[in-house]
Amino acid sequence: MKVGLIGTGLLGAAVATRLLKCGHTLTIYNRTRSKAEPLKNLGAEIAGSPKEVAARSDIVIIIVKDAAAVESVAFGKNGIVDGIHEGLVVADMSTISPIASKKTSERFLENRIIMLDTPVMGGPALAEKGGLVVMVGGEKKSYERFRQVFEAIGEKTFLIGPNGSAHAMKLAMNLQISVLALSISEGLLLAKKSGLDPLLFLEVLNSTYFKTGMSQNKGPKMARGVFEPSFFLEVMYKDLEEIENTAKAYGANLPLARLARELYQNAVNAGFGKIDYTGILAYLEKISG
Ligand SMILES: NC(=O)c1ccc[n+]([C@@H]2O[C@H](COP(=O)([O-])OP(=O)(O)OC[C@H]3O[C@@H](n4cnc5c(N)ncnc54)[C@H](OP(=O)(O)O)[C@@H]3O)[C@@H](O)[C@H]2O)c1
Repeated sequence: MKVGLIGTGLLGAAVATRLLKCGHTLTIYNRTRSKAEPLKNLGAEIAGSPKEVAARSDIVIIIVKDAAAVESVAFGKNGIVDGIHEGLVVADMSTISPIASKKTSERFLENRIIMLDTPVMGGPALAEKGGLVVMVGGEKKSYERFRQVFEAIGEKTFLIGPNGSAHAMKLAMNLQISVLALSISEGLLLAKKSGLDPLLFLEVLNSTYFKTGMSQNKGPKMARGVFEPSFFLEVMYKDLEEIENTAKAYGANLPLARLARELYQNAVNAGFGKIDYTGILAYLEKISG
């Protein structure tokens, strides 16, 4: 399978690594070329533009920051549509709103290219092990055609529905993550300010029915103040903005999501955007004095 991948940030580099390990031929492009270079040693070909990636690939996976970035690599100068050839399929793995995603798929279709929305759950570490959960929106035939690519990176893949549906699901998922990180942060902070050992707080929590993957895996790092990024806090803020816009458009009143958006926004403004999203704890510690 000739696979193309655009965007070798934290998630994109991990997905690329996994696809190469699984034996796929991979052509990559990143706006900042230096971030793509290390993947050359693993066998990736580096292209000079999204157009070149598309021309050399059966499927092009996009993993860039937001909807504006997707639009730029898809339809900008030397974009994916300029590399069109028979049977080309695009899979957008960036997290964007279902509304923007639907529009993007329609624009691709006007250019005779099928697009699937393929957001994922799980971070770079899981991607490298093939342990992501992949949600797919769009044409079943194209999903089936490239299923082995999605199954290389995903332990589970779900065909959710038509274009946009997978992104609606993804935003509902990220709402869980953002609020959970806040809830564990506030628990840790309260325990610490009460004179308790934050690691003991986690030990008790993780002995109960209310433990989560986050309290078990990220919790100990949070308690120790280690916020090495697997998912930048500023990217979580972007997702909360998408959640708020989507909720408004679809008529869902989500007070908790609004509050989370405000807190993550304040954290970004206070300079915490480039640490892991669980570093929301560091921001809460700062405002606690
Ligand atoms: N990290 C995770 O755990 C995770 C999990 C699920 C979904 N996601 C989603 O995956 C996407 C990427 O996340 P990430 O964690 O890999 O973020 P990241 O490390 O910040 O990488 C962002 C990528 O987007 C590119 N980009 C940004 N603006 C661009 C533009 N205008 N034109 C072209 N390229 C542009 C960046 O290129 P440069 O290097 O040139 O800046 C970089 O390759 C996001 O939508 C995120 O929500 C991430």
